[in-house]
Amino acid sequence: MITNAASGTRIDEIADRIYRISTPVSTVPGGFTFNQYLIVDEQPLLFHSGPRRMFPLVREAVSAVMPVERLSFVGLSHFEADECGALNEFLALAPSAVPLCGRIAAMVSVDDVADRPARALDDGEAIVLGRHTVRWLDTPHVPHAWECGFLYEEHTRTLLCGDLFTQGGSEHEPIVETDILGPSEAMRTALDYYAHSAATRPALHRLAALAPRTLACMHGSAWRGDGAALLRELASILEPVERAVEATAV
Ligand SMILES: [Fe+2]
Ligand SMILES: [Fe+2]
Repeated sequence: MITNAASGTRIDEIADRIYRISTPVSTVPGGFTFNQYLIVDEQPLLFHSGPRRMFPLVREAVSAVMPVERLSFVGLSHFEADECGALNEFLALAPSAVPLCGRIAAMVSVDDVADRPARALDDGEAIVLGRHTVRWLDTPHVPHAWECGFLYEEHTRTLLCGDLFTQGGSEHEPIVETDILGPSEAMRTALDYYAHSAATRPALHRLAALAPRTLACMHGSAWRGDGAALLRELASILEPVERAVEATAV
């Protein structure tokens, strides 16, 4: 459903009561998209606020599905403008909402910048939203930022995978079952946004062990399929890159 004709912002249900909000932009050569995910439940969660300047568009899209004032959590994978630039704008509108992030993000940035203290999650800690349950997984530096981590929604087996599998371009179906690894690797090799630490492959294998059925990507289409296989394939593609980094470090 298009919620803003001028920007092309849309909202679509990609799993049971999990909605992908997506806005295409032309500021990146070749086009790009910024996605946020809304989990509608007793305690609704918006995973990523979108950039501050995109706030009116994301608010409008959330409002098409539920009152923004009902939000309980505004989550983030790591501290960047597209993840949390509009965090305080949402906190101002939703009086009981708090930021939801990992311990490191809360300690380093969120508890200073956000207008209300974060609900900071330990690695492996879960929060019941209602029929949905989200579990936090620390993934430091994967794909980037010390404080990085992801939420895994257990009811729908959806991994809110942030910047993993980032696909360029501004025209995407809300959810696909076709290959996203090829397009995301084209993006990564052109503009590598990975930190490439020794922890990268173990983190990807840990995410694969969850066996997600849906990958809720922050840029491009969401994806449905064998998430474990796709994450392991990504880990194996990255192996030579990271072996080279390790060799350089020695
Ligand atoms: Fe990022
Ligand atoms: Fe991002």
